[in-house]
Amino acid sequence: MEALVLTGTKELNVKDIDRPEVLPNEVLVHTAFAGICGTDHALYAGLPGSADAVPPIVLGHENSGVVAEVGDAVTNVKVGDRVTVDPNIYCGQCKYCRTGRPELCENLSAVGVTRDGGFEEYFTAPASVVYPIPDNVSLKSASVVEPISCAVHGIKLLKLSPYQKALVIGDGFMGELFVQILQAYGIHQVDLAGIVDEKLAMNKSQFGVKNTFNTNNGDQIPAEEYDVVIEAVGMPQTQEEAIASAARGAQVLMFGVGGPDATFEMNTYEIFQKQLTIQGSFINPNSFEDSLALLSSGKLNVEALMSHELDYKTVDDFVNGKLGVVSKAVVKVGGEEA
Ligand SMILES: NC(=O)c1ccc[n+]([C@@H]2O[C@H](COP(=O)([O-])OP(=O)(O)OC[C@H]3O[C@@H](n4cnc5c(N)ncnc54)[C@H](O)[C@@H]3O)[C@@H](O)[C@H]2O)c1
Ligand SMILES: [Zn+2]
Ligand SMILES: [Zn+2]
Repeated sequence: MEALVLTGTKELNVKDIDRPEVLPNEVLVHTAFAGICGTDHALYAGLPGSADAVPPIVLGHENSGVVAEVGDAVTNVKVGDRVTVDPNIYCGQCKYCRTGRPELCENLSAVGVTRDGGFEEYFTAPASVVYPIPDNVSLKSASVVEPISCAVHGIKLLKLSPYQKALVIGDGFMGELFVQILQAYGIHQVDLAGIVDEKLAMNKSQFGVKNTFNTNNGDQIPAEEYDVVIEAVGMPQTQEEAIASAARGAQVLMFGVGGPDATFEMNTYEIFQKQLTIQGSFINPNSFEDSLALLSSGKLNVEALMSHELDYKTVDDFVNGKLGVVSKAVVKVGGEEA
C-alpha cells in the first residue's frame, strides 16, 4: 500500500509498504482524510510533538476513515463504520493515569507520532481510541476531531459562565476553533486578535466575533477587559498581551506552544492584584465525545476553516511553508468509498 513516510529529519518519501497486521484488540482503518498541523512541522524538523517521532515513521495524528478489519477482541466498532481515532494512547499504570490526568502520562504513545498514522492507505489503532462518527458529520470534518478536542480540553479546564467576555489571541485554526467553541459553551461575547485581515473579517461576518484587532496594523487590544483570554499563538509577545488584556478575576488559558527555552515578562504583582488564573493545556483527554457532539449539533463549522485539501505530494510544500496562508490543510488519502 502507498504511504508517506518520514524517513529522516526533513525527509518525506512516498513508499510502497506492507499493510499493517491487526492485533486482537486493534482496528484497521482505511484512511479517508488526515489533517496536518504544526506538530507535523515539528516532527518533520526532528523536534518532539506530544512525544518523539523516530524515523522511519508515518505521520498523521489527525485522521478519519472507514473500519476495514477488527481484531477478535474488538466490540465497540465493526467493519464499515466511519470512524476517527484519538491518537493519544495512555499507559493506564502511571501515577498520572491513575489520578485522572492521563494527558500527563509518563509513557504516552501516539498514532502518527510513535506509531504509524494516517498518511497511508491503512493504519491500525487500539479499539479504545477509535470513535464512530455520527451520520451527519462528514469524514472531512471528522479528520480534525483531534485538534477540536485539544481546544475542548482547554475549555473544560476553565470555569465558564455566559456573562464572561472572552478574547482569543491567534487567528490560526486553533484560535478560530476557540471562537466557535466558546460560543457553543455559552460565552456571550468573543473578540479575536490576529494578523490576517481576511480571517479576522470572516470570523466577524460568519462566526459571531464581535470585535477584531489586527495587532500587526497597530490595533490596540483593550487593557484589563476580558474575563477569559485564550492565548493560541505561543509567542512571548502574545502571551504578554494575554496577561495585559485580562480583567480582574480573569482566567488566562496559555494554549499556544512556545519554544522549549522561551520566556515572557510578567508582572507578579498583577497576578496577585487581579487574582489571575493562568492555566496550561496539554493535548485532549476525554474530549472526543464532546467534540463529535459539537460537530453533530451544528455548533461547529470546521469545513469553512479548511483552506487546503492536499495529496501526498503537496505535504512537502506544506511543511516547507510554500503554501501561503494556511488555515487548515487536510490530506485526502482514501478513494471514493472513504
Ligand atoms: N495545547 C495544545 O494541546 C495545543 C494543541 C494544538 C495546537 N497548539 C498550539 O496552538 C497554537 C496555534 O496553533 P494553530 O494551528 O492555530 O496555528 P499555527 O501554529 O499554524 O500558526 C500560528 C497562528 O498564529 C497567528 N499569529 C501569529 N502571530 C500572531 C500575533 N502576533 N497575534 C495573533 N495571531 C498571531 C497566525 O496568523 C497563525 O495563523 C500553536 O502554538 C500550536 O502549537 C496547542
Ligand atoms: Zn495536530
Ligand atoms: Zn500513564
